[in-house]
Order: sequence, then structure tokens, then C-alpha cells
Amino acid sequence: MNSNDSKITITVVGSLNYDLVCVLDRLPALGETLTARSHVAAFGGKGANQAVAAARLGAEVRMIGAVGSDPTGQAMRRNLEENGVDATGLLVAADPSGTAMINIDANGDNTIIVYPGANAALTPDWVAANGDAIRSSSCLMLQLETPLDSVLAAARIARGAGVPVLLNPAPARPLPDELFRLCDVVTPNETELRLLSGVEGVEEGARILLGKGVGAVVVTLGGKGSLCMDERGSFAVPSYEVRAMDATAAGDSFNGALATRLSDADGAHRSRISADDLAFCNAAGALAATRLGAQPSIPTLAEVNDFIARRTA
Ligand code: RIB
Repeated sequence: MNSNDSKITITVVGSLNYDLVCVLDRLPALGETLTARSHVAAFGGKGANQAVAAARLGAEVRMIGAVGSDPTGQAMRRNLEENGVDATGLLVAADPSGTAMINIDANGDNTIIVYPGANAALTPDWVAANGDAIRSSSCLMLQLETPLDSVLAAARIARGAGVPVLLNPAPARPLPDELFRLCDVVTPNETELRLLSGVEGVEEGARILLGKGVGAVVVTLGGKGSLCMDERGSFAVPSYEVRAMDATAAGDSFNGALATRLSDADGAHRSRISADDLAFCNAAGALAATRLGAQPSIPTLAEVNDFIARRTA
């Protein structure tokens, strides 16, 4: 990951959810009741997942977000700490902690419904109060499961301090042009790219986001791998073939991995993404897809390195 042993520091501003997962033969039709094959409850939320992913890959990680004043919120804080993530940037809100209802079909594909709860209470003021954490980071990682004004506030602080901003625009929603200009890297999947760019083609869509002022666009293509485009051009890296059990948090593992690859231990950062970087991120995502649940599926650095070594042997 880095040329020396000191750690890089990544700050995540984002969501925390408690995921209730049902594994089904197929997804239910409207008005239909199905019996699940199995069920797990696990820690999730795109922000927390990406924080845990970066920590398991060796980064020092701080999380800024909001949990409820309920037992779930306390458990979410403990869970981050147990994963080595600094949770002092968590706000305790009056609302219940965020929850997600996830259905997985026999192909490992999912549908997700999120009840934001406490995540909606993350304010620009709370982000600003934790601004020093952002300013002293090697990378800021953002998603769109918390209020947009708090995402913007974090991106402005990072840009003001020269800290690179990685935005995973999930779940996709129309975004102000200012946010694109503040982002060094944006990482949509194909559906998100279509919504953000208004066009069908991956390369054309990525070019539109570059035109809005993004430094680089990395498109995650599921089983087809990933594509990177910046002002020099584009390249794609195929995925590793795996037997997918649950795609949940595959994208989060990919993003956590990308954040670790873009940061250097001395605080410097790279804006150039290489094919090796994408292969590493594809491996992290592929491994996550082979396991059930969000955070239980996120791989460690040893697992990713071992997986790549075995696949390239
Ligand atoms: O990206 C997966 C995550 O999306 C789940 O953990 C769920 O909580 C939703 O936020």
C-alpha cells in the first residue's frame, strides 16, 4: 500500500446503519410475501462500511457521522472502535439510529431500503466542529447517505486544506456543480453514472463528469471490473471472477481500498490512479461479494494480498 510503515489517515464523513438482511431465492413481487432462506443482522451504512474497509486495509481512520441515543447507536460506536476506527466524531442524535432493510437474491444481487434516522441529523456545523480531523487527513471520503449540506461542508473544508476528496455518489441524486468541482475522484456505479450524467454510455458519462470539474472518474462495473478516466484518457481493469453470494458492501470495500491507494504515509497524495490500484480495489470488492452481510464481508489487507497472489500465480 505505502512505501513505508507509517499509517495514512483517512476521514470519512457519512452514514451508519444497522442492516437487517434476508437471503431469498428471488426478490418479492409487489404484494407478495416470501419466506427467506436465511437472515442476518449486521453493522452497515455506506460511510461506516467504507471507514471499516479502509481500516482493515491498514489505514488510520476517523469517522464523522451521527448515531441515535439508542442501544444500537452505542453498539455502532463500539463496533467502529473494535475495528480500529476513531469514533470521537460521532454525534448522538435524538432520532433512532439508521436502519437498512436488505433483500438478497440467488445471484447475490440486492435491493436496499434505508431509513436514515440519526444520519439525517448530521449538520454542517457538526462537520465544521470536526474540521481539524478533515484538514489533517491524507484523504476525505464521502457518500450521499447524509444531508447534502454536510457533504458539501466537508468537501469545502478538505479543498481549503488541500486534502483530496473522494466522493462515492451513492445513493445517486442530482448534485450541485460545486460539489463536482470540489471532488478529486468520483466513483459511481453504472446506474449512478447514468443519473449524474444524463447519458447511457459509460465513457460518455465519465467525460461529462470530468467536464463538471472532477479530477478523475472511476466507474465500478460489477462483474465487468472498473474503468478510470481522467484528463489523460481512460483505461479499464477486468474484475476477478468469484461466486457472488451478496453484493452488499462490495462497492464500499472498493472505495475504502481506493482511498488507501490514493494516500501516502507522509501525508502526500496521488491524483493519478493506476491499473494496479484498480486491480487492488477490484479484488477487495470481489472478496466482499463472496460473503454475506455488509461489514462482516469486508476483507483485510492480508486477505486482499493473498487473493491477488493466488489469482496471479
Ligand atoms: O452499501 C451498502 C450499504 O448501503 C448497506 O450496509 C446499507 O446500510 C446501505 O447503506
